[in-house]
Amino acid sequence: MKVRRKKRLLSAISVLAIFMLFLAGSSLHPVKKAELEGMITVAHRGASGFAPENTMAAFQKGLELGADFLECDVQLSKDNELILIHDLYVDRTTNGQGSVRQFTLKELKQLDAGTSFHPSYAGETLITLDELLKEFYGKIGILIEVKHPALNKGIEEKIVKLLARYPDLESIVVQSFDVNVLKRIHELNSDIQLGVLINGSFIPMSTKYIDELTSFAAYINFNVSSLDKRTVDQIRKRNCKVLVWSKKDKRLIQKAVLYGADGVITDFSRWPVDQEVFMEME
Ligand code: G3P
Ligand code: CA
Repeated sequence: MKVRRKKRLLSAISVLAIFMLFLAGSSLHPVKKAELEGMITVAHRGASGFAPENTMAAFQKGLELGADFLECDVQLSKDNELILIHDLYVDRTTNGQGSVRQFTLKELKQLDAGTSFHPSYAGETLITLDELLKEFYGKIGILIEVKHPALNKGIEEKIVKLLARYPDLESIVVQSFDVNVLKRIHELNSDIQLGVLINGSFIPMSTKYIDELTSFAAYINFNVSSLDKRTVDQIRKRNCKVLVWSKKDKRLIQKAVLYGADGVITDFSRWPVDQEVFMEME
């Protein structure tokens, strides 16, 4: 008897949980144009839904689509040059094989970084952070993510040295999942705006941690799956911005608006018609 009652209780809890999940999902209404006013849009790895990520083609596309920032991933080559590539290995996005750090800049430049996205991009190459800045500084914001810092010793100094060539740093932000990397950059040049990428396991964030991060960061950025309304409110109260990123989650824009974020980092950088783009991609 007791077992049956327990089973009934468990199924009632499951039904309630499913209903709550349904309610949570249905609160994401289609976004109205007015709600998008002032939202920051960031082309993730360039407009990487349209062109090979972290290449000139993707960055040009991001600019063309009207994004506010171009996001890029930076690492060091074997000869310590700042190269834009996301993975530790070149295999997924180029025709080469091996870790990025095995290749000199000259060797990385010989790789084809376009064909794996689409044969029409054959011949597209990897580019340096210097090339990105030379082409886009002053035209659009640049959001630089420092990748794999443990394997790229000294990358902070290289970035700070490169950015020193640009007197107005208003349109540049450096972000990382690694808080120590950001603290090091802050020590080297406190004028550089910083963004902390939050690992989902830190959610919800304690007030103490929010205070610590917002003491030096201008942005705190979350994946759409680990967004928490209370945390967003707390961060924004401290004059810090919140960006939300996702590669393909269709609820990105609705959730960003609903949670009061300042902007989105997306592969689909056309704004504010992302939702139409999503439909085309289905
Ligand atoms: O800008 C946020 C996002 O780029 C972090 O993830 O893996 O795409 O570099 P990932
Ligand atoms: Ca990135």
